[in-house]
Amino acid sequence: MIVAPSLLSCDFLNIESELKKFDTAKDIWFHLDIMDSHFVPNLTFGSPIIKNMSKRTSHKLDAHLMVTNPDFFIEDMKDLGLHNFTFHWEAATHHDRLIQKAKQYYPSVGVSLNPSTPVNVIPDYILSKLDLVLLMSVNPGFGGQSFIEGVVDKVKELNNLKKKYNLNFEIQVDGGVNDKNAKTLSEAGATNLVAGSFIFKSDDYLKQIELLRS
Ligand code: DX5
Ligand code: ZN
Repeated sequence: MIVAPSLLSCDFLNIESELKKFDTAKDIWFHLDIMDSHFVPNLTFGSPIIKNMSKRTSHKLDAHLMVTNPDFFIEDMKDLGLHNFTFHWEAATHHDRLIQKAKQYYPSVGVSLNPSTPVNVIPDYILSKLDLVLLMSVNPGFGGQSFIEGVVDKVKELNNLKKKYNLNFEIQVDGGVNDKNAKTLSEAGATNLVAGSFIFKSDDYLKQIELLRS
């Protein structure tokens, strides 16, 4: 199980020392919530900050673009050393075109679905091109919200499609993930759990990661 600490909940005035606390962690990605105040009612950070983060960690960087114009960011972020680039299905019109374009620059490309967007909006031929599908388990925009239980069924549905077509993409769940729902999510087929407040509210981040895995 990959755990992706969401830096949205970290201490923004001390990002470097926050990153350092994860130096010895295994199989983690740093989850970067990029918000534009249009697609979601919040504004976070962009390329200049990510560029500096990238120099200070060897963990993979996972960009979650909550923006109305993902096309712009595909090129804007191409030299930052990102491992994964995920854009929202709801923000795009020419999904297949964006996926092909992003694949030129990023080792992993994903799409994200809001809680109310059904899994079956993604046609099978697109599913087979994806490295990751992110199922939002809160309405995107803020950390610290409550997990929406109905998303567990979406994870199962997506996992059934993954098995049916013998595909390999990561099933990532983001929002309200904690030690109470992590096991259910893993059993439903999630392979990658994003967690913000659950990790950063504690003073032992690595212990919280282990709790999510146990
Ligand atoms: C919400 C973000 C999440 C958020 C998760 O829009 O996409 O990544 O930071 O935070 P928690 O784990 O606190 O719900
Ligand atoms: Zn996120």
